[in-house]
Amino acid sequence: MSREILLLSGPNLDELGTRSPEIYGHQTLEEHVDRFGAQAKAHDFTVRHLQSNFEGDLIEAVHAANGVAAAIVINAGALTHTSWALADAMASFSGVKIEIHLSNPAAREPFRHLSTLAGVVNGSIAGFGALSYDLAVEAVARLLS
Ligand code: DQA
Repeated sequence: MSREILLLSGPNLDELGTRSPEIYGHQTLEEHVDRFGAQAKAHDFTVRHLQSNFEGDLIEAVHAANGVAAAIVINAGALTHTSWALADAMASFSGVKIEIHLSNPAAREPFRHLSTLAGVVNGSIAGFGALSYDLAVEAVARLLS
């Protein structure tokens, strides 16, 4: 069985570190990804990461992961609140699926309260900052053990 986790990062997450640090923290995306990779390695997983500001890139990455990756961990950024197309793609992925967020969208502006992904993933982890990424690795490892 595959031990690959596809980590997907949506729009504007490439700006982490300087983007609203009071909400998202000071760590860059690269730092989150490195840490995620190290934690995954400790559980004997490999990680492939894609960040894109384009919805279609993320959808195609989900399609390509079917039958290849064991799990998808996705922080879709604002596409979380708008993209039914990404949700449809995620619904067709047969492995483990975890939605993550650095902030807690439910405690923020009303437009962030809807997640198109929430209904098609195994579970959602939000509001723990960098720890959201660690918890996602832990969830994948436990669900696939
Ligand atoms: C986010 C929350 C989203 O509402 C926002 O659009 C982001 C980041 C988070 O990680 O907290 O880009 O996904």
